[in-house]
Amino acid sequence: MKVLNREILVRVLADAVLLSASYALALLTRLFVVFYVEKSQDISLVQGYVDIYLRSLPILLPLGIAVFALFGFYTKGRAYASRYKVLVVVQAVTLSFLLFGFLGFLLPQHVNPPRSVVFIAWAFALPLIILARLWSDFWKRLAIAEVITYERPKANSGKNVLVIGGAGYIGSALLPKLLERGYKVRLLDLLLYGKEPIQGVINHPHLEIIQADFRQVDKVVEAMQGMDTVVHLGGLVGDPACAVDENLTIEINLMATRMIAEVAKGFGISKFIFASTCSVYGASDQILDERSSLNPVSLYARSKIASERVLAMLADEQFAVVNLRFGTIYGLSGRTRFDLVVNLLTAKAVVDGKITVFGGDQWRPFVHVDDAALAVLKVIEAPVELVRNQIFNVGSNEQNMTLGQVGELIQRIIPSAELIDSGRDGDRRNYRVDFSKIRKTLDFEPQWTVEQGIRQVIGALQSGKVADYRDPIYSNVRYLTEEAASEIIKQYYTGWERELIERAHSTN
Ligand SMILES: NC(=O)c1ccc[n+]([C@@H]2O[C@H](COP(=O)([O-])OP(=O)(O)OC[C@H]3O[C@@H](n4cnc5c(N)ncnc54)[C@H](O)[C@@H]3O)[C@@H](O)[C@H]2O)c1
Repeated sequence: MKVLNREILVRVLADAVLLSASYALALLTRLFVVFYVEKSQDISLVQGYVDIYLRSLPILLPLGIAVFALFGFYTKGRAYASRYKVLVVVQAVTLSFLLFGFLGFLLPQHVNPPRSVVFIAWAFALPLIILARLWSDFWKRLAIAEVITYERPKANSGKNVLVIGGAGYIGSALLPKLLERGYKVRLLDLLLYGKEPIQGVINHPHLEIIQADFRQVDKVVEAMQGMDTVVHLGGLVGDPACAVDENLTIEINLMATRMIAEVAKGFGISKFIFASTCSVYGASDQILDERSSLNPVSLYARSKIASERVLAMLADEQFAVVNLRFGTIYGLSGRTRFDLVVNLLTAKAVVDGKITVFGGDQWRPFVHVDDAALAVLKVIEAPVELVRNQIFNVGSNEQNMTLGQVGELIQRIIPSAELIDSGRDGDRRNYRVDFSKIRKTLDFEPQWTVEQGIRQVIGALQSGKVADYRDPIYSNVRYLTEEAASEIIKQYYTGWERELIERAHSTN
């Protein structure tokens, strides 16, 4: 038997009370018959029945409870827990009274109830014990229904958006769009790449900035106050950056995502939009849609798959999770990256006169950074029923291209650049993706083509807007390894813990 906990004790007590009550009712019924039907005048019978009752209980109760326990009443045995529970209860109650009657026959000096009393007690006990079970099941269902329909605290106008990791490549394209459309935006970001990416909106009256590490639960709680929607873009991004420190990657990309989502759910956030990646498809020769099997070839992709799954477990009717699997991004934003293939090959063509392509036959789905931000906006503005607990690939079927085709396109635009096929490097990714779902469901049509993106990047390089594409600020992995960024991420958290400990000591 399981440890006797409070719940079991209550159930045992309830059964003991019901058995005692049934037995008392049976004796009263028998007395009624003796006095009113059989017209007996022998008043001493009352005392005799009280004696029988008091002598019977120490036998009936332990016997009944022991039989109920053997039938799994208190340990929720398999038969008892099944839908045939009523049948099990009938068997247990019947066996209890049969044994009780048999004991009366064996030990007449201790307990000798009239046989009819045993039968009547059985007839009372049966419906009482069955009804008690049905009643308790009913209450349990009622309580569960209450919990399900319980409205978590509702936030405000629907126009308050928390963007986590919003000072990066996609975030810096998203913030201006949100602000232009009248949203009140709160940004939670460590500003690993500085304030430069959000310079254009930094003084906007509807932008609030919390510079902090999103692994800090108190900062996440602070940031969550009064929000309606959360967009989680933060993380260590890209295969090489994630490979630098695997534990750190899991902590930032997976564990923090779980914590943030749990806080968001507790705060009654209605939409939680998570930035995932088409890298989850890894290597495949098929055209892949949201239902295709995943085949990640890097820790980065695995951390995204694990996050999607954790979020799916937290999602419910009130907490709508939307996973956006972005294609490979290109184009300019507040924090343009030159560690992504279209931007990098274009910069090499302009600056070095060479387009060096590795793995020319590998497919990638491309999407402009502005269109990635547009997709987030579409999800924010979509009716929740359309996007609740959905995965969307973000991109367009027309922009699936091999890396070789990208090289050829750049060379067509910059004919002076030499196209070099360098065979394969270590990157095994190869995926062609179907984007019909986002187009049909959200009417999402990218505004940019790869060619327009290439021309935009060329313009930025030629005008001097991007001084040196090799600057580590433009590359996640180089910034994390060559600059102090990695140390900032590692130290920030422990530094914060240390500060807390010091504060605790100083108040003691
Ligand atoms: N760029 C792409 O091609 C691409 C493709 C698919 C998916 N994604 C996903 O989209 C999201 C955004 O990508 P991006 O290219 O804008 O990335 P990014 O590296 O440019 O931006 C990430 C942001 O997160 C912040 N950040 C990182 N760790 C933090 C921490 N511990 N606390 C607070 N802030 C922290 C950084 O300061 C930065 O502003 C990521 O989740 C990424 O996986 C990007």
